[in-house]
Amino acid sequence: MTKPAKVSVLFVCLGNICRSPSADGIMRRQVADAGLAGLVAVDSAGTGQWHVGKGPDARATAHAAQRGYDLSPLRARQFKAADFDRFDYIIPMDRQNLADIEAQQVRPYGGQLALMLDYLPAGYPKPGVEVPVEVPDPYYGGEDGFEQVLDLLEAATTGLLADICQRHGLTQPSGA
Ligand code: 4NP
Repeated sequence: MTKPAKVSVLFVCLGNICRSPSADGIMRRQVADAGLAGLVAVDSAGTGQWHVGKGPDARATAHAAQRGYDLSPLRARQFKAADFDRFDYIIPMDRQNLADIEAQQVRPYGGQLALMLDYLPAGYPKPGVEVPVEVPDPYYGGEDGFEQVLDLLEAATTGLLADICQRHGLTQPSGA
């Protein structure tokens, strides 16, 4: 029997050292916990080139580690046009990331290109409270910004995994 192809997901931010590696680490854990590690592949990239080859920001790594996510093996790379051919989902963190990705698009993309927070579960954070549109860049801010990023990403990756399972006929993870 042919092995089912992996569904591939690429998270994209500016530097690929704070937001998208955090999304990468969280999503990998959620995928593994759902027993889908063989079916869903996860990667991340930045639209900028400054940090290529470097590990994630020490603050992002520390805050993620406090929640049990290991970002230490990840290394920054730059988004490239060939990524349109390699990934079923391309998920930018903010509208500028989205515009920078679209600027590299030379033909229609057959996958899902959507902002990370488009996948927030309905009613997040609670009814009546404004829903954020972008994952804010924590790089120049304080420690609480990294916690806010993790809160948003944990919720949005849960919604993303549910979307992947639905579109690709995978078994829904429990609780999604
Ligand atoms: P990220 O954060 O896009 O979430 O990785 C940033 C990291 C580095 C820079 C900007 C944002 N920078 O200007 O170097």
